This record gives sequence, C-alpha cells and structure tokens, in this order.
Amino acid sequence: MSASPPEIRFDDVVKTFGGAARAAVNGVTLSIPGGTFAVILGPSGCGKTTLLKTVNRLIEPSSGFIFVGGVDTASVDPVRLRRGMGYVIQNVGLFPHMTVSENIATVPRLVGQDDAQIRRRVDELIDVVHLPPAEYRERRPRALSGGQQQRVGLARALAADPPILLMDEPFGAVDAIERTHLQDEVAALHAQRARTVLFVTHDVDEAFRLADLLIVMRDGRVEQSAPPLAMLARPATAFVSDLIGADDVVRRLRAIHVSAALEPAGETDAADEPSVDSHASLGDALSLLLDGAARLAVRDGADLRGVITVAGILRAARRGATAS
Ligand SMILES: Nc1ncnc2c1ncn2[C@@H]1O[C@H](COP(=O)(O)OP(=O)(O)O)[C@@H](O)[C@H]1O
Ligand SMILES: [Mg+2]
Repeated sequence: MSASPPEIRFDDVVKTFGGAARAAVNGVTLSIPGGTFAVILGPSGCGKTTLLKTVNRLIEPSSGFIFVGGVDTASVDPVRLRRGMGYVIQNVGLFPHMTVSENIATVPRLVGQDDAQIRRRVDELIDVVHLPPAEYRERRPRALSGGQQQRVGLARALAADPPILLMDEPFGAVDAIERTHLQDEVAALHAQRARTVLFVTHDVDEAFRLADLLIVMRDGRVEQSAPPLAMLARPATAFVSDLIGADDVVRRLRAIHVSAALEPAGETDAADEPSVDSHASLGDALSLLLDGAARLAVRDGADLRGVITVAGILRAARRGATAS
C-alpha cells in the first residue's frame, strides 16, 4: 500500500541555545533505519527533547544536518515536513473545547476530507488506540483520564497515517498500570504498521520494553546506540552500564536456564545450526548469539529441544523484569 518508512539520519547536529554556555545537543551523528522503533534514553537535561524537535523543525540546529528518507529537512517546507510526522508529547495539548471526535478529526479536516471520510477515519482511529466505548467520542478532554487523553493524542497524531512517529515522554504523566497498557499498544501498533518511531524517555524499563534500537544520551552526545540486548551485554561506557543496570541483568541471565526462553524449532532442519546444551544458561546462549548466530539449537544429546534467539531471550528478560 505505502512505501517503506524513511530512515532518519543525524549528521553532526549541534544546537546551542542563545546565551547558553554549553550546547544542548553537541555533535550527534546517528542513523535510524526506516521502520525501526528507536528509543532515546537519558537523564533529564541531556538533550533528548532538543534532538527530537530538530527532526520536525520545531528547533533548528545551530549546525549539522538532518536527513529524512535521504532528503535534507532544511530544504523542506516545515508544514509539509510535519504532515509526514505524528508528534505526541506528555500533556498532549488536546483542544479543550472540542470533543474527542473533533480532536481526532483535526488533521483529516485540514487536508480537506469530506464528512463521510472523516467519520470513517475517526472510527478507525478510536478503534486502533482502543478508546473506550462510543459514549467517549462526544466527551471533552477534561472528562477523560490521563491515559485516555494520551490515547486521543496518539489517535490524532496517527490521523494522517504518517510514516514517522515522534514521541516525547508521551506516558510520563500516566499511572503505572495504564502506562504498561499504552506501551503494549504502541508496540502492537508498530508491529501492525511499519513506521519509523523516535521515542524519548528517561524510564529505563520503558526503553527496554519498546526499543529495537536504544540510544543513550549524556550531556548532548550519544553515549551508545545499539539494540537493547547488545547494550546490556556490552555497554560501551560505565555511564551506560550504570544507567541500564547492565551488571544486574547479565548476572540474572547467567542464573537462568535456557529453557526459560526456549521456542519451538518449527519446520526447519536445525542440523547445521550452532547449538548449546540444554543445561546452558541464557548468559551462555547470549554470548554465542552476539557472536553472530541468528539462532541456536538447544540440544539434549542428539535430541533437539527447541531454539533460542535474541528476540526470545529479550522477551523472556522482559517477562522477568515485569515479574520482579
Ligand atoms: N528553549 C530553550 N532555551 C534555552 N535552553 C534550553 C531550551 N530548551 C532546552 N534548553 C536546555 O538544553 C538542555 C537540554 O534540554 P532538553 O533537550 O529539554 O533535555 P531533556 O529532554 O533530555 O530533558 C538543558 O540544559 C535545557 O535547560
Ligand atoms: Mg525532555
């Protein structure tokens, strides 16, 4: 139906606010491949929001370039640029005098869809973000919970079906249970429809639940950019290791038996695949996988018990993290 989602690439991006002694973003070079769910993680003030806002040009960099789908964003009209990017922030900024439906319909109306099209799109989106029953459509934002407001904000951001979604601590003001639901739904949305997502958070658990690619920032710079599990296993610096609690997790994986992340081998013949013994730990399996094996056969003597993949370990680790 639609083209594959675009890459976002930062090339030596610097942003120094007027009068500031230090750059808020200080030389970021980074590629986020199209379709990736990338999470920027770091402490308050490290430059996450500033970097995110250079993508939709709410902030112009002092120097450097941002390319979206290979096109220098400085050469694109900001209004047109933003039409391809949903943007969700913490206090969504819903229009208080408008109903839920009217809020969601803002963009379809702007682009001149007719009433029937708009109604259909609003219905679709209400469904996509699992807003509660029909009665809610005619409510005003103040009559919604924080989580429901975030759902409306997300629906509104998705209205034009943008190939890029920018999210800045979108669930920061939502209670813990609702937050978990929203995280699951954002992950499910991403699985259904390929988009390039750039999601900012200071919450390590949230970052690990969502990220394909985890980008740790510190003092305006990228400290490390890697898939979450690779970062856990091989944090580039002590700062990263401390931030994500790498010591604990790797130690935890070493104490867990491979069976905790075992998946069925399926139809394929696993005879030629690298393998581990069924008594190995997830820590052992992870070391082999990080050396380049796509998956490992788990064997008990000659018997094939199943397979282990990085994604499977990650799912198991997330289950473990949720339980603890
Ligand atoms: N509009 C602004 N004017 C001046 N300084 C700013 C502005 N926005 C952010 N900053 C400063 O830039 C740094 C990075 O801020 P920000 O990107 O908001 O960090 P984060 O989102 O990681 O908390 C901080 O030191 C902050 O005070
Ligand atoms: Mg911020």
